[in-house]
Amino acid sequence: MVQAHGGNIDQLLEELQITPREIVDFSANINPLGMPTEFKQAILEQMDSVERYPDYSYKLLRKRLATHYQISENCLSVTNGAEEAIRTVMTLLPETIIMLQPTFSEYEKAAISRNKTVIHLDLSEAQNFRVQLDDLLQWIDALDLKVSGQSYFKAALFLCNPNNPTGVIYTKSEIEAFAEALAQRQIALIMDESFMDFVSQRESYSVMNSEKKMPNVILIQSLTKFYAIPGLRLGMIVFPDESFKLKFDRILGTWTVNTFAMICGQLVGQLGAYSLETREYYLQEQAKLVEFLRKQPGIKVYQPAVNFIFFYTTINNLLIKLLHKGIAIRSCENFKALESGYYRIAVRTSEENQRLIERMTEVIAEEFVDGKMG
Ligand SMILES: Cc1ncc(COP(=O)(O)O)c(C=O)c1O
Repeated sequence: MVQAHGGNIDQLLEELQITPREIVDFSANINPLGMPTEFKQAILEQMDSVERYPDYSYKLLRKRLATHYQISENCLSVTNGAEEAIRTVMTLLPETIIMLQPTFSEYEKAAISRNKTVIHLDLSEAQNFRVQLDDLLQWIDALDLKVSGQSYFKAALFLCNPNNPTGVIYTKSEIEAFAEALAQRQIALIMDESFMDFVSQRESYSVMNSEKKMPNVILIQSLTKFYAIPGLRLGMIVFPDESFKLKFDRILGTWTVNTFAMICGQLVGQLGAYSLETREYYLQEQAKLVEFLRKQPGIKVYQPAVNFIFFYTTINNLLIKLLHKGIAIRSCENFKALESGYYRIAVRTSEENQRLIERMTEVIAEEFVDGKMG
């Protein structure tokens, strides 16, 4: 069952009995520039600090992140990747959780693990998986939600912006208006901005430091992807007030952020050049890949917002065909509301992207003879 896999390439190779050789992994959306050299240096210099427990209040880390993102450190908690923030915050959320599909699958997993009732809204392909937020409000009104249990809120809605895997992005002003409309309906909004650092005009899209008061909004951010540290992982969660943060901290484990992730996170304010280079680099490379894909028969590309590209193809088993050629891509078949034929590729280095283009050209040539399916 190939489709059951996310970015687990080793498992996939084993299952398909493909002898591992050099595989270029386009299935995980990690910064192609790799981790900043400042991180490597700091880790090497402070290797011995692993022998001590990190400061469990993560005071300096929170202070530095708060300065970097221009938010209050008193409303910010740090986690072992954004995934831990998602799973932990779920305990504090109302009984009903709403999510728009397709989206990051951990929201549903976390909700189920906390015995929540999950309501899915399947987004429409005809609208390129982008729902008008006013339509979404109408749909929510039709649900006729009621308060249940201890919560003030009737439900919490997860919105991944930009969305994984579709790449759909909403502007800051759209989200601000939407959040206000949800507040009037006693609905909490959990924004996952884990890919926001990749966005060039972040200030036009992120609500991280919105001037508007958003008492119903909780914001989750992963630093894992942008700073290319999936082996360390670092996440953060921003609450509308300090009391919510304190409740969260009470149920969060102690020392969940490891020493190296903490050391790296403390440096993010010094990485302006790396951030700029990342955005310029991936935009240029993304354009090349999109141009290539758009020209191919049997492929529909959805407008990407960040460092990954979502597309649909009529080519059967593209994942396996490319894997045999040393390229791993992400099948999106196991995302809710998607079927086979949807894929996501990360934007990688120029050389690697070129290799993907060449291998895909071969697959397409084998597939389509004289412009028809072979
Ligand atoms: C939208 C989204 N949020 C959160 C995460 C988890 O991030 P982390 O690795 O920091 O736990 C992912 C990872 O794929 C993601 O795609």
